[in-house]
Amino acid sequence: MPDTDSSRRTFMALAVAAPAALALTSAASAQTSTARPLPLPGAGRAAVITGSSRGIGAATAKRLARDGYAVTVNYLTNRDLAAQVVRDIEAEGGRAILRQADVADPAAVKALFDANDGAFGGVDVVVNNAGIMIVGPFARMTDAAFDRMMATNVKGSFNVLREAARRTRVGGRIISLSSSIIKTPPPATAAYAATKSAQVLFSSVLAKELSGRGISVNSIAPGAVDTQLLRQHGEEALRGIPEQTPLGRLGLPEDIANVIALLCSQDGAWIDGQNVFANGGLG
Ligand SMILES: NC(=O)c1ccc[n+]([C@@H]2O[C@H](COP(=O)([O-])OP(=O)(O)OC[C@H]3O[C@@H](n4cnc5c(N)ncnc54)[C@H](OP(=O)(O)O)[C@@H]3O)[C@@H](O)[C@H]2O)c1
Repeated sequence: MPDTDSSRRTFMALAVAAPAALALTSAASAQTSTARPLPLPGAGRAAVITGSSRGIGAATAKRLARDGYAVTVNYLTNRDLAAQVVRDIEAEGGRAILRQADVADPAAVKALFDANDGAFGGVDVVVNNAGIMIVGPFARMTDAAFDRMMATNVKGSFNVLREAARRTRVGGRIISLSSSIIKTPPPATAAYAATKSAQVLFSSVLAKELSGRGISVNSIAPGAVDTQLLRQHGEEALRGIPEQTPLGRLGLPEDIANVIALLCSQDGAWIDGQNVFANGGLG
């Protein structure tokens, strides 16, 4: 049972303290309004974001650039889209370079990181985002489709995380894109879900391997996000998702970029070796 007298005393103490606290807050904000602005969280730091020509990667590149990071934008085939991401960043006063690289190719991934290090002096944030989604039931999945998805999502992630493990500077962040689909994968998604489960395992092991270097390693598991990855499967793939989602809509690339920015910020510094579900409550 609650102690009514003591609850009342606590409430009264808070009521008396509140105006004083408010006065302190406004004095503090008056002080800060004349002070220099705080440096951006990414000031003087650099981020490599694989698959940042569109979708979640593009939104993340723009968000991290806004937070002060110099950004290496990577693409596979869509050079024009990727170049537009670089122009958007530069138009807002940020710094970015553009590099084509197939993440499935270890030499290309090494060259991607070399280009970043050459331009910006090193890497502080790696967002292992490039990925493809091919769906099909076991009985109809072809060898070629299975192998292509494994090469991009699993071998590609391994290539990116290996460079990240070798190069990320003290205090850095390494973030991989998993998927909420790993919780309860529907029929026809076994191979894709397996590649996204690999991101959780890779991140959890790498977090331990990098212990003592102040680098956090996590994965993010988005729910359905409105990008080409889903839209390529037709409107059908999106039907009913807003209705089934407790927050009432489809995810946007910026929703995931915000979570990545949180993990990169000082406020996210204590999150390490985790898989963070970000899905509006779906699943
Ligand atoms: N959208 C979702 O609902 C959702 C949900 C959960 C997880 N995810 C994950 O989030 C990540 C991003 O997804 P998205 O929806 O933003 O996808 P998207 O819009 O299809 O964009 C994919 C990006 O990856 C790049 N890419 C593909 N294969 C590559 C390769 N071999 N080497 C380098 N880059 C490559 C593409 O480059 P080009 O443009 O040059 O082809 C593009 O920039 C993926 O790992 C995906 O599995 C997405």
